[in-house]
Amino acid sequence: MAGTDAQSGRAWPPTPDFDTWPVEHLPAGATTDGRIVTVAWDDGRVSRYHAIWLRDNATEPGTHSPVTREQVGHPWDLPADLAVSAVAVAENGSIEITFAPECRTVAYHPGWLRALDYSNGRHDDLGDIAPTHWDSRRLAAPPTFDGPACMDRDGALLEALEALMEFGIVRLRGVPTDETEVQRVAERIGTIRNSNFGFLFDVKTAPADSRKAADSNAYFSGALAPHTDLATREYEPGLQLLHCLVNTTRGGRAVYVDGFAVADRIRQTDPDLWRAVTQIEWTFSNRSPATDYRWRAPLVVLDKNGDPREIRATTFLRGPLNVDFDDVEAAYAGLRAFQTLAAGEGFAMTFDYAPGDLVAFDNRRVLHGRTAFDEAIGERALKGCYMEREEVLSRIRILRRAKRANRAA
Ligand SMILES: [Fe+2]
Repeated sequence: MAGTDAQSGRAWPPTPDFDTWPVEHLPAGATTDGRIVTVAWDDGRVSRYHAIWLRDNATEPGTHSPVTREQVGHPWDLPADLAVSAVAVAENGSIEITFAPECRTVAYHPGWLRALDYSNGRHDDLGDIAPTHWDSRRLAAPPTFDGPACMDRDGALLEALEALMEFGIVRLRGVPTDETEVQRVAERIGTIRNSNFGFLFDVKTAPADSRKAADSNAYFSGALAPHTDLATREYEPGLQLLHCLVNTTRGGRAVYVDGFAVADRIRQTDPDLWRAVTQIEWTFSNRSPATDYRWRAPLVVLDKNGDPREIRATTFLRGPLNVDFDDVEAAYAGLRAFQTLAAGEGFAMTFDYAPGDLVAFDNRRVLHGRTAFDEAIGERALKGCYMEREEVLSRIRILRRAKRANRAA
């Protein structure tokens, strides 16, 4: 975004986005051989940029819409013999580049150019937050934040969401116990994901007259082993919110487990079990007269680096195992090992929900469950909804962007 540095009063060229780019270093000089532009910065760093990369990222109306900042020009339409014919550092520190054969000069924002310098290693353009894996010794309770503060103050919300991405779980306290408050909190973050359980869903004992039609074990009072929700879907929900409205029963303690930490333990201790949980696919299928979702996946899905990307542990929605004959016993051994570790005291965090507690957790990483409760005593009611990890990440980026803009103003 175009802007003016508050301290120096410099007017910067626009950038192909809506972000604010602090200028911490200015270019001391810039040269080109026609194909590459080399920028020497005032701290000694040297950055190199290709002519085609610069031209493709030019912020001018033929390349990016000044309104939407989306691309309107295409690199495949640029001259095949595109080159840089001249480069200069302007008085205000912008870098002016002239392209041939177009004879077009474009000014580049030095803060943007420096931040996106790919010649000195890849930069973190996704704003990833590295997960900190935990067991019950490292994390005895969820990182806890004040619910109303998160609703009112962006700084408080950012802190909570960063903790959510790092640990996979946070607890907001003091969230008003209205039926739709979970929606208000969710929409402060992003978009709710609907499902066959509803836009918002209840986790409470089903009334006696509707029990025959109940479509989840959660609507009864038995214990629920640690699990993820909706492994039956191609895209397992990345986030779940559970808001406690009332809890006067006996039992029903919350159980949460970092599935990545459980996976770490198996990887460190048993190669055969590691192969079983990461390679052998279970078929997950929901049970309902009205819907028949199915998906095949191993319990632990790995990313391209071989690290856990998601846990698929909706264990009560497993279909009959349908794998190579020789893999059947290994599959069950892997499942037994994973779930036994997950339910053990070493990994499981347990606590009582208090009315007004809202727990948000990464449903593709953190397993949730509960101990059994006595439905003859009191009442236990949670209201929940699903979202995605990317909603949290988008909100974090926007909050960080606002923070940068405020600092620059
Ligand atoms: Fe669940």
